[in-house]
Amino acid sequence: MSFLDLASSRYSCRAFTDEPVTQDELDQLLEAVRVAPTAKNTQPVKVWVFRSDGALEKIRTCTRCHFDAPLLVLFGADSNAEGVFVRPSDGQNAAIGDATIVATHYMLEAKDLGLDTCWVGFFDTPAINEAFPQTAGYDLVGLFPTGHAAPEKGDPSPRHTQRKALSEYVEEL
Ligand SMILES: Cc1cc2nc3c(=O)[nH]c(=O)nc-3n(C[C@H](O)[C@H](O)[C@H](O)COP(=O)(O)O)c2cc1C
Repeated sequence: MSFLDLASSRYSCRAFTDEPVTQDELDQLLEAVRVAPTAKNTQPVKVWVFRSDGALEKIRTCTRCHFDAPLLVLFGADSNAEGVFVRPSDGQNAAIGDATIVATHYMLEAKDLGLDTCWVGFFDTPAINEAFPQTAGYDLVGLFPTGHAAPEKGDPSPRHTQRKALSEYVEEL
């Protein structure tokens, strides 16, 4: 499959079956995380995996967008990490962008493995920090329910195809 075919086949899945994500699949997802680019290769990122009954039960209280997926993965950016790139000209810190790239690798690798995900930004950050104190101090960029799409209920939403024309935001200078 070409990259464009893969990227076009991805959509936000909001209903999953109970079928677990295998250890081999999780290993490959994390390998895609590992090879993602970050500014100066400083990798100012943290990845938390929720798949035990206890962890799933707790993270599900922190968002209604867990969609009962058998696996959830959360990405955090550490803007205070040693060596994190800060652009001298305007002070922009690269950590959130870095974590977003890493999460995007995860999301597309999932699709390549025949899994589905949804990038979830609607969660209760203080509740996550309280339930999982190790997440405190990170900018949480995305939570990914991950698994196998449920028949029909796991289909793309109508919003999936509502794309602006490129001419609205691509400008050749
Ligand atoms: C940063 C970000 C945050 C998002 N947060 C949520 C969310 O909290 N809940 C949800 O159901 N979808 C969420 N989405 C999914 C978007 O609504 C979805 O990507 C968009 O409507 C396009 O649809 P598609 O992913 O099916 O192509 C989020 C997507 C992004 C990129």
